[in-house]
Amino acid sequence: MKVAVVGATGLVGTKMLQVLEERNFPVTELIPVASAKSVGKEVTYKGKQYKVVSVEDAIKQKPDVALFSAGGSTSLEQAPLFAEAGVTVIDNSSAWRMDPTKKLVVPEVNADVLTADDKIIANPNCSTIQMVVALKPLHDQYKIKRVVVSTYQSVTGTGVKAVDQLFNERKGIEGPKAYPYQIDLNVLPHIDVFTENGYTKEEMKMILETKKIMGDNSIRVTATTVRIPVMGGHSESVNIEFENDFELNEVRDILTKAPGVVVVDDVANLKYPMPLDAHEKDDVFVGRIRRDETQPNTLNAWIVSDNLRKGAATNAVQIAEYLVAKNLIGQAVEA
Ligand SMILES: NC(=O)c1ccc[n+]([C@@H]2O[C@H](COP(=O)([O-])OP(=O)(O)OC[C@H]3O[C@@H](n4cnc5c(N)ncnc54)[C@H](OP(=O)(O)O)[C@@H]3O)[C@@H](O)[C@H]2O)c1
Repeated sequence: MKVAVVGATGLVGTKMLQVLEERNFPVTELIPVASAKSVGKEVTYKGKQYKVVSVEDAIKQKPDVALFSAGGSTSLEQAPLFAEAGVTVIDNSSAWRMDPTKKLVVPEVNADVLTADDKIIANPNCSTIQMVVALKPLHDQYKIKRVVVSTYQSVTGTGVKAVDQLFNERKGIEGPKAYPYQIDLNVLPHIDVFTENGYTKEEMKMILETKKIMGDNSIRVTATTVRIPVMGGHSESVNIEFENDFELNEVRDILTKAPGVVVVDDVANLKYPMPLDAHEKDDVFVGRIRRDETQPNTLNAWIVSDNLRKGAATNAVQIAEYLVAKNLIGQAVEA
């Protein structure tokens, strides 16, 4: 596989290189791509240095697959050009997620929707990915009616500039700001831009993407997304109302057996998921599993995952792995 990584100098792109290497993805040629300012810089993959090229040069090299994490506007502009050249694009931005002609995929949930004709495949929002990995097996068993989620999201979800802001503030250094307010020692109930209904775009992503990935428009979701001065991953407090009743032990059992999920739920020994423990892991960690005692058939849980891994790079590479395993790359009739 000739693999282009578009956004290779960014937080997600760097993690993609790492994940491709760790999972031994069959890369025969690597094409790292970034903006004009980075062309000629070097990135490391499997101990070798690779020169960053422009998107135009990358298309000329006709990669088989391009993993995009270079922001929405770059994806909107560039992904169709790659697709027209016969490249399968797996895109991390929000540009294509709700396009009804594009698949939005979390392999543990809905990889089976993919076909060889899918030339631009959308990777969901990081907070949505970790939530649906845990929700899907429960939905299959008890049918979810409604989800109320509040997130506690890592600064790594905003990119390099946000991580720099946190550490600059910690050291008392002035520098560029990714957020409208101080993030160190603070909590911002604001992720992405506000929309007309008073929710943020991040909240609307969780609401809409969950229905699309789960393939069930009847699931009602409401979300409050919050940025906190943390690095290792996103955390979520999730309240889930089911159509059918459940036993807590059975819920734990279902989640323990679910692909991609690790249950960490032993409060007697103070065991519950935390971003520090999820950091650099590919799993979705679920704990604090308990009944909501205020209404029937309702569960509370706490879900944590490394947003740069399962929330971005790992999920994208897993999609690519699925396409390779099913022989779906390079098979499509070109548009
Ligand atoms: N961080 C997360 O948890 C997360 C999760 C899911 C999805 N995403 C999405 O992934 C994307 C990247 O996020 P990030 O956190 O990695 O951001 P980042 O650290 O700011 O990196 C952005 C990358 O995009 C490149 N880029 C910018 N403009 C470009 C252009 N015109 N052409 C080619 N490359 C360009 C940058 O290259 P230069 O270095 O040359 O500027 C850099 O490599 C965003 O769309 C984000 O929404 C992020």
